[in-house]
Amino acid sequence: MCGIVGYVGNKQAYPILINGLHRLEYRGYDSAGITLVNHGVKQYKQKGKVSVLEEYVSGKDISGQTGIAHTRWATHGEPTDENAHPHSSYSKGLSIVHNGIIENYSPLKKELINRGYDFQSDTDSEVLINLIEDIQNKEKVDLTEAVRVALNNVVGAYAIVVASEEYPDMLIAARKGSPLVVGIGKDDDFFLASDATPIVEHTKQVVYLEDEEIAIVKKGEDLQIKTIRNKSKTPYVQELEMNLSALEKQGYDHFMLKEIYEQPQSILDSMRGRLNPENWQVRLGGILDYEQKMVNAKRIIIIACGTSWHASLVGEYIFEELARVPVEVEYASEFRYRDPILGEEDVVIAISQSGETADTLAAIELARSKGATILGICNVVGSSIARGTHAGTYTHAGPEIGVASTKAFTAQVTVLSLMALRIAKLKGSINASNYQQIVQEMYNIPKKIEQALQSNDIVKEIAQKFQDSRNFLYLGRGYNFPVALEGALKLKEISYIHAEGYPAAEMKHGPIALIDEEMPTVVIGTNKSIYDKVISNIREIKARKGVIIAVVPQGDTAITEIADYTIEVPSTHKVLDPLVNTIPLQLLAYHIALLRGCDVDKPRNLAKSVTVE
Ligand code: G6P
Repeated sequence: MCGIVGYVGNKQAYPILINGLHRLEYRGYDSAGITLVNHGVKQYKQKGKVSVLEEYVSGKDISGQTGIAHTRWATHGEPTDENAHPHSSYSKGLSIVHNGIIENYSPLKKELINRGYDFQSDTDSEVLINLIEDIQNKEKVDLTEAVRVALNNVVGAYAIVVASEEYPDMLIAARKGSPLVVGIGKDDDFFLASDATPIVEHTKQVVYLEDEEIAIVKKGEDLQIKTIRNKSKTPYVQELEMNLSALEKQGYDHFMLKEIYEQPQSILDSMRGRLNPENWQVRLGGILDYEQKMVNAKRIIIIACGTSWHASLVGEYIFEELARVPVEVEYASEFRYRDPILGEEDVVIAISQSGETADTLAAIELARSKGATILGICNVVGSSIARGTHAGTYTHAGPEIGVASTKAFTAQVTVLSLMALRIAKLKGSINASNYQQIVQEMYNIPKKIEQALQSNDIVKEIAQKFQDSRNFLYLGRGYNFPVALEGALKLKEISYIHAEGYPAAEMKHGPIALIDEEMPTVVIGTNKSIYDKVISNIREIKARKGVIIAVVPQGDTAITEIADYTIEVPSTHKVLDPLVNTIPLQLLAYHIALLRGCDVDKPRNLAKSVTVE
C-alpha cells in the first residue's frame, strides 16, 4: 500500500523515479509526488495518478542525481495535493516519503506545535520528518543519528526514505512492519523501493531490510546498515529472481487481462517440480519438515483476506474431503481481534499474494504467541509473511500487477490442492484411484484453462447485455460456492456493480427477494453430484422472472435448456472445479468493467497490497 522509490547515484534521478512510480502504481494512486536534491530540495506533488504528476512537472526543473518519490493510497488525511508525499520539514531542508502509520503522531504533533512547528498536511508522515528535524536541531546530531533517535520515539509501522539539502549525495531509509528493498546498482548507485518491481530493471543485487533496520546509502560508498538500537549489521545481498518482462503488459490492453491469460502457465509454474509424473508423488520442498505436524494436526486454521480468503475456502473443502482434518477459515482481520482457541497441535496456514497484508501479518503474530505452527502460501518471494512463518510454499505465479487478483487465486488453489493431496497420501485418508485421478487431472488443468479461456467471445457478448445492470447475484454449491464469492468480488472491485456471492441453496433464505427481470444471476452449475439440486435453484429463480447466466460443463443440456445464457467450460475432478470455473467469471468482470469505462487495472479506492489495518 503506497509505493516508495529512491535513487542516489550519478544518473539523473527523475526518469528512474517516475518509471519506478509507474511500476508501483498498483500499490496506490490517490496522489503522487517527487523530491529532487540539487542545490536545495525541490518538491512536486499532485493529487491523482502518476500521469498527473508528470504533466505537472513538465517544464519545471527536474534535475538532480538524488531523489525520492511516492505514490499514495490515502490513510491519514484525504487525497489532496497537501497530503501527498513527499513531506518537507519546517525548514524545508528535509523531505520524507513514508508508508505505514505512526500511531502516536498526535502527541508528537502537539509537542512540535508547542515548540513552534507549523504543519501543512494532516499526515503522520509530516510529524515524523519534523521530529527528525527537531532532534537534529536540539541535540546537534547528524541526520542519520536524528533519524535513529526519532524512530526510537515513534510507535507504529513505517518504511521511510529521507532526503536532505545538507547531505545531497545521501538517502536514509528504514523499515518496521512495512517492506523496503535496497538495490545495489552497478554504477556506484543505489535504488530504494517498497518492493523490487522498480529495481529489477537496474540491478538484481538487493538487500531486504529487516524490521528496525536503517540503511544509509551514499553515492560511491558501500551500503551501511544499522539497527535503531545503533548496532551495525552486515548487509545480506540477494539475487532477485524477477524478470523485467513479467512487469510489462506484453501487448495486452491491461495487466488484468494478461494475468487472466497467463493462468495456464502460472498454474504450471505453481506445480513445477512438485508433481512427479513417474511415481505420482507430490513433493513440497518448503514444508517437508512440517509434514508430520500437518499429518498430526488436530485442526488446520487458514487465515487470509480478500481473494486469498476465497482460495482458503476452497482449501477448507479440499483438506477436509481428502485429508480428513477439520479446517477453519478465518478473516485475518477478525481472527486477530478475538481470542481464538489455538495451541501447539494446530497448524495455521496464512495465505497472501503480496505477503505484506497487515491484518494477515498481525494474525500470524497472534498464532505464533499461542504456539501454533504457521505455514505460509505467498506469491512474493522474500515478503514479510513468507519470512514471518515457520515454513511455506511459494505460489510462483509471477508478479501480479492488476489490482484485482486473478492468477494469484488459481495459483493459491493449486498449491492448496497439492498440499491436501500430499497430507492425504501420508495419512492414508485417500484411496489410490481417487489420488491418481486428481493428480492426473492436475496435469490436465493448464490445458483445460486454455479451453475455458476460449469462452472469451461469448463472455464479451454477455457483458454487453448486462453492462448496465445495477446488481448481480452469483450462486454456487460445494466447491463452486467460493467460486461464486470470487466472481462477485471481481465484478464489485473493477466495475463497481453491486454483486453478492451466495451458496445456491441459501438463496431462498434471503436473496430470492431481490430477484426480478432486472437482476442477472450467475449460476456455476458444474457439480456432478448435486446437478439436479442446482437445476432446482435455477428453476426457483426463473419462476420469479430472474435472468440466468450459467457456467456449465461442455455438452450440457439440462441447465442450458432453462438458462438464458450459458458459458461452457471443460469438466474436471470436482475438487479442481474452482480452477477452471473462475476463468469465465474473471473475464466477465473484466469485459463489463471495460464497457463501463472503468480503469480495470487501477480500480477506485483499492490497493493491491494493504499494509494498514
Ligand atoms: C487487497 C487486494 C486484494 C487481495 C487482498 C489480500 O484487498 O486488493 O486483491 O486479495 O488485499 O491480499 P494478499 O496480498 O494478502 O493476498
